[in-house]
Amino acid sequence: MNILIVGGAGYIGSHVTRELLDRGCHCTVYDNLSSGQRENLFPEAEFIHGDIHDYPGLIQAMKGGFDALIHLAASKAAGESMLKPEKYSRNNICGTLNILNAASETGIKNIVFSSSAAVYGEPEYLPIDEKHPTMPENYYGFTKLEIERFLGWYEKLRGIRYASLRYFNAAGYDVKGWIKGLEQNPANLLPVIMEAACGMRQELQVFGNDYDTPDGTCIRDYIHVSDLAAGHAAALDYINKSGKSLIVNLGSETGSSVTEVLETARRITGQPIPAKIVGRRPGDPAKLTASSAYAREVLGWKTQYSSLETLIQTSWEAYKANQK
Ligand code: WQD
Repeated sequence: MNILIVGGAGYIGSHVTRELLDRGCHCTVYDNLSSGQRENLFPEAEFIHGDIHDYPGLIQAMKGGFDALIHLAASKAAGESMLKPEKYSRNNICGTLNILNAASETGIKNIVFSSSAAVYGEPEYLPIDEKHPTMPENYYGFTKLEIERFLGWYEKLRGIRYASLRYFNAAGYDVKGWIKGLEQNPANLLPVIMEAACGMRQELQVFGNDYDTPDGTCIRDYIHVSDLAAGHAAALDYINKSGKSLIVNLGSETGSSVTEVLETARRITGQPIPAKIVGRRPGDPAKLTASSAYAREVLGWKTQYSSLETLIQTSWEAYKANQK
């Protein structure tokens, strides 16, 4: 299959590109390198240095006779989205509409979209399945949910087939050490802990330890980025073969607290990793864990690398490799 990967030089995008290359796909990465990195590009994949706001550029790129496109180019910091909604409107909504219109104009019918568990908001029950109400608590989650609605309309009106993948908390690095580029200015827990472990940051600030959880810190469902990448490949196969669209959770179905992640990181890295308890971060639910039963049932997808040990070990290998 000939696949266009929009945002394929990013943290998740580069892992998806690697997975598809390993499965024998011909891959073209389209990325403006604003957060993606050139060192995450693979020689076997074509590269177009392009921007999702450049409509003629998208049209030109999409005339490459692609069987499908995967869209991972977006802004994804939930906290930032509440301070800079314009950036998220422009990048996540306007940018995606450019992609949808260009795909429609050039006849690309199969689309895999990087969505998020942030569409669910405060959980009404756990684990969260795809039937859970979608009431996003932050503007980032709102943009992802709105894009899913646009996809539904383009399916009705233009016959696209889409898979919207609702990621829980992506973490880790590929076990083969292919991906070299570390996330820049991360806000997520794992990379922040890694930066504190290798002295790139003074300490981890723990956003509250007074939640209704066993150790008082928030619980999240951390999913290895290589498991996520396999989910993209499985979803591509599904829409290509079934001709049906799909909205599905990708999570490990295991919850880990901030304290558990921190203590495991201290043990694996052998580093002290200084940490300080500070106030809660607005909008943080106490606990978020996925049901991925639907992904198992429809895609035959299951996690392979999402143990806390592997998530932290592979992250540490990537950060150590960047210290040399
Ligand atoms: C995890 C836990 C924090 C940093 C994010 C975003 C979005 C989405 C899912 C893809 C929380 C705590 C964190 C820190 C901390 N991704 N924490 N100190 O907020 O669950 O969701 O991932 O769609 O990126 O919505 O992830 O890693 O920011 O936080 O104490 O310096 O770690 O309070 O409990 P989150 P996170």
